[in-house]
Amino acid sequence: MADKLIIFDTTLRDGEQSPGASMTKDEKLRIARQLERLKVDVIEAGFAASSNGDFEAVKAIANTIKESIVCSLSRANDRDISQAALALKGAQRGRIHTFIATSALHMEKKLRMSPEQVLEQAKLSVRFAKNLLADIEFSPEDGYRSDEDFLCRVIEAVIAEGATTINVPDTVGYAVPELYGQFIKNLRERIPNSDKAIWSVHCHNDLGMAVANSLAGVMMGGARQVECTINGLGERAGNCSLEEIVMAVKTRKDYYGLELGIDTKHIVATSKMVSQTTGFVVQPNKAVVGANAFAHASGIHQDGVLKARDTYEIMRAEDVGWSANKIVLGKLSGRNAFKQRLQDLGVQLEGEADINTAFSKFKELADRKSDIFDEDILALVSDESVSQAQEQFSFVSLSQRSETGEKPHASIVFKVHGKEVKSESNGNGPVDASLKAIENFVKSGAEMVLYSVNAISGSTESQGEVTVRLQNSGRVVNGVGSDPDIVVASSKAYLSALNKLQNKSDRVAAQG
Ligand code: KIV
Ligand code: ZN
Repeated sequence: MADKLIIFDTTLRDGEQSPGASMTKDEKLRIARQLERLKVDVIEAGFAASSNGDFEAVKAIANTIKESIVCSLSRANDRDISQAALALKGAQRGRIHTFIATSALHMEKKLRMSPEQVLEQAKLSVRFAKNLLADIEFSPEDGYRSDEDFLCRVIEAVIAEGATTINVPDTVGYAVPELYGQFIKNLRERIPNSDKAIWSVHCHNDLGMAVANSLAGVMMGGARQVECTINGLGERAGNCSLEEIVMAVKTRKDYYGLELGIDTKHIVATSKMVSQTTGFVVQPNKAVVGANAFAHASGIHQDGVLKARDTYEIMRAEDVGWSANKIVLGKLSGRNAFKQRLQDLGVQLEGEADINTAFSKFKELADRKSDIFDEDILALVSDESVSQAQEQFSFVSLSQRSETGEKPHASIVFKVHGKEVKSESNGNGPVDASLKAIENFVKSGAEMVLYSVNAISGSTESQGEVTVRLQNSGRVVNGVGSDPDIVVASSKAYLSALNKLQNKSDRVAAQG
């Protein structure tokens, strides 16, 4: 049997823990469908016991996804595990991923449990989970900073209870490649029943080494599952990036010698979908999915690539889906072509009413913008207004005046619970005036902690995509808005962030 590397995607769980990256059930479902199209082996859909919203999202994904294993995280207690099993009930192939911290620091300061209590809890939890599902993953949280002898006892015990995957997280991104690889190797060699489980690596990127550490865990340690996220999304400096791991293993098959199930031509579309949904923009020089990843600016490089591509290119842009970035629809495209394109992009809108709303938005956009790209369609459907008639705030229209030497002024009309209101303000610039006009009416008191503008498809003719991050009473949310007019895009993004602030959902933090 070929030596396969299992790709476990945790964008919807660990990725979602980035400040402001929380996603709605529909957004998660759309991304899960795209991950299935990408052929990831395991989708960690969420942490079912953390909130009703997460429970419903895991359930919806479990009921929809057929090819990938669907997994839910759970702390090592019966209630969390039962919730995970319940949410996964409809899954073709479900997995419970249970975890408990094993480092001295976490056990003493966070859990206030003795090592013996942690060992007992880990055993009981895996035993309980095993009665509910066959596929059980166990993670000793902060595993890399745990005492090796103690970790050996815990892991041996949970494998004996039936854990089928053992994941060793570098929770705080402290590892370096050689030491992490050696650590996994030691554990596998020392634990007598280690061959009864698949070993997995889960690295955070605090020192920029998550991908290198994961690869060392695979090559030196013998791990055969990598936990990663699209675009490396995740708390702090993020997680190991899926696209980098996959393309490293694929491009250097001569060295790694491992098989992958991933259909790499869907990588770029998935990256764009995650970025547009969460508002986390991908840096242009990011490996594989950054806008410059395949751009050759210097004359020498261009000349070389024109003569023979492999002079400077080690991967082909089309193999990761860059060629899919083409004009897809225009003003004359009909409803069926639009519906088909949505399907091809993995977008499933609920019911005819939502398709009609999206189609009329597409027509409006096509009137203002001659070429409609895949990115425009994805932005259009991630726009709050498509399926979110129930949202509190929605954009209607804007007029603004700005002239050199004059104070910019904006007058905006937006809906509050379906009723139109108008508000005006001056500001330092047209965007500032527009957002102040909204805030004058709403009086949310939220603090803006990030504002960023990005051109969706690269030129001044493209739509502007704006991310606004607001913080209020300890909650952080990202709002995303897109429009050919960046002042309108900014207003939409601000209203979208306000909507998210209203949707209060108290969740339990995974590592809290
Ligand atoms: O980083 C970590 O330790 C985790 C665990 C919950 C697996 O995400
Ligand atoms: Zn993690």
